[in-house]
Amino acid sequence: MAQHLAPNMQVSNSPTPNMQIAPSVLPADFARLGEECIGLEQAGANRIHWDVMDGRFVPNLTFGPDIIAAIRPLVSLPFEAHLMTEEPHELAPRYVEAGCELLIVHAEACPHLHRTLGAIRDLGIDAGVALNPATPASAVAHVLDLCNLVLVMTVNPGWGGQRYIASMENKMADMKAMIAASSHNIELEVDGGIDNSTIGAAAQAGAEVFVAGSAVFNHAGGFQSAINQLRTTAATAVS
Ligand code: DX5
Ligand code: ZN
Repeated sequence: MAQHLAPNMQVSNSPTPNMQIAPSVLPADFARLGEECIGLEQAGANRIHWDVMDGRFVPNLTFGPDIIAAIRPLVSLPFEAHLMTEEPHELAPRYVEAGCELLIVHAEACPHLHRTLGAIRDLGIDAGVALNPATPASAVAHVLDLCNLVLVMTVNPGWGGQRYIASMENKMADMKAMIAASSHNIELEVDGGIDNSTIGAAAQAGAEVFVAGSAVFNHAGGFQSAINQLRTTAATAVS
């Protein structure tokens, strides 16, 4: 299944999972979005996390496919689109055309999740499922064969800069066990309130891909210091 994954998204088979940092560009300076994404690539980010919001599934409204398409030629990093939208299956082809290698849909927005994931994979790219804090890991128990990634939300979606919900570490551990038992190559990602004080516990709970917006964009030392510090803290926590 991992054959679809872009180079940076290859799931490591090494005993210590490779800790990947996926900056969310929600806090970026939108007047300089291209420069910001180039800076993230130069700073060693593993992928760009696009928080796509439709003003319906969540109140906020953010990146349409044309914005992502405009940035695509500027960086070689993989793009993952976190579709916080109703009817993500309707939008999926446009975000693939825009250059996203991975689309993450919310289980809560997909009454036909199995069909939606199959449709995304039929577009030739990777598929992920995001779980809101109240949604149990069991929501994806019967679609793991269609997942390249599961995203455990550690905030309620819609905004950046929120407080990390530590109780989600139990769900991360449940998810990690389900993935291990499935024998599928599935990345476990977390998103929301990830910073140097929370990433260690998330890594110990089983997460290996970390979305960080505020922690990257608000770091006094800049992108590279922020990304290096996050990756080191996560790796140290599991070593
Ligand atoms: C929230 C988004 C998150 C958020 C992360 O709906 O999915 O990606 O922007 O931002 P921080 O890292 O600031 O919590
Ligand atoms: Zn996100």
